[in-house]
Amino acid sequence: MYSNKWGRFMFGLYNLKPTSVCSAVRRAAGRSGFSRTAVCEQRTLWLQGAARVETERRHSGSRSVSQTTVDPAEVRRFQSLATKWWDEQGEFAALHALNDLRVPFVRDNLLNVHRARHPGKPLAELRILDVGCGGGLLTEPLGRLGANVLGIDPVEDSIGTAHLHSSHDPDLVDRVLFRACTLEQLSGEGEGEQEEQGAAQFDAVVASEVVEHLADLETFALCCSNVLKPGGSLFITTINKTNLSYALAVVVAERLLRIVPNGTHDWEKFISPVELERLLESHGFSVQSVQGMLYNPMSGAWSWTNSTSINYALHAVKLSDVTEDSDAHLEDHAAAAHS
Ligand SMILES: C[S@@+](CC[C@H](N)C(=O)[O-])C[C@H]1O[C@@H](n2cnc3c(N)ncnc32)[C@H](O)[C@@H]1O
Repeated sequence: MYSNKWGRFMFGLYNLKPTSVCSAVRRAAGRSGFSRTAVCEQRTLWLQGAARVETERRHSGSRSVSQTTVDPAEVRRFQSLATKWWDEQGEFAALHALNDLRVPFVRDNLLNVHRARHPGKPLAELRILDVGCGGGLLTEPLGRLGANVLGIDPVEDSIGTAHLHSSHDPDLVDRVLFRACTLEQLSGEGEGEQEEQGAAQFDAVVASEVVEHLADLETFALCCSNVLKPGGSLFITTINKTNLSYALAVVVAERLLRIVPNGTHDWEKFISPVELERLLESHGFSVQSVQGMLYNPMSGAWSWTNSTSINYALHAVKLSDVTEDSDAHLEDHAAAAHS
């Protein structure tokens, strides 16, 4: 899914102009036995459906509310990959390489706000939550920068892999923890009379290549706000929702060429930077920066780019007076779900 083979294929197509993509789709359609007209009709119907859903969503003012971020199909998919996280040439090769961009992105943005107090450990004394940590590919380097990091993921076997791998590094033993749970479970632990565990405890939340796998982004945004301290940072990397990403990730890769299993990518769950920004700002965040990222599968390296049309990274900050609004929002959210 994130392997070099997949990356090479995606990169080759990403570098085609839209007209070339159409030609590629036509050629592939011919080879696969799909008629070109059928593919175009399917695409048109799909776009009409998507436009209708988007219009309804705008009118209702929110995305679907289900109160869980968990999509069971996604959990099953990552369960089957739970032993593969640390194979640097394997399924997750591109995620290993992505550390070259995302680790400095998180570090430098945090250092703009928090002064480094320990030489060699610039993130010391900061608490970071890595949501959807998988095997801990990003959790570990953040721990090595001195942060106390909690990695969470609903896939228990991935957490087992993450825990085992980090236990080999004595530098991480006291600094990095992993837990098999969801963000909403962690967030809910702050409620009630007990000592607050989930609420307002983190200086930063990172969710890297995760939001495109979630069932409900409203719940995600609410819970991120709940677990962050006022002024805390949220870092997201994800895939844009463009015609190009539909053509490449869904039509060509899954349905025509069948390079990845049908259903691996749900284009409807991809989100544009504009929509993500709107969602976060409605939950009391202020978006500080959005930057495009590009993967070069020939070199296996990522680089920053001005274009956010494929992959992008976003940094947002929780506004200081968001807690009361967020509580009211959580109550509305719960009432809506129960009505
Ligand atoms: C593409 S992987 C990214 C892993 C890790 N963030 C990284 O970049 O190395 C997506 C991760 O999201 C996790 N995930 C799926 N549904 C989730 C949910 N509802 N809450 C948190 N994580 C979830 C998957 O189990 C998987 O580990």
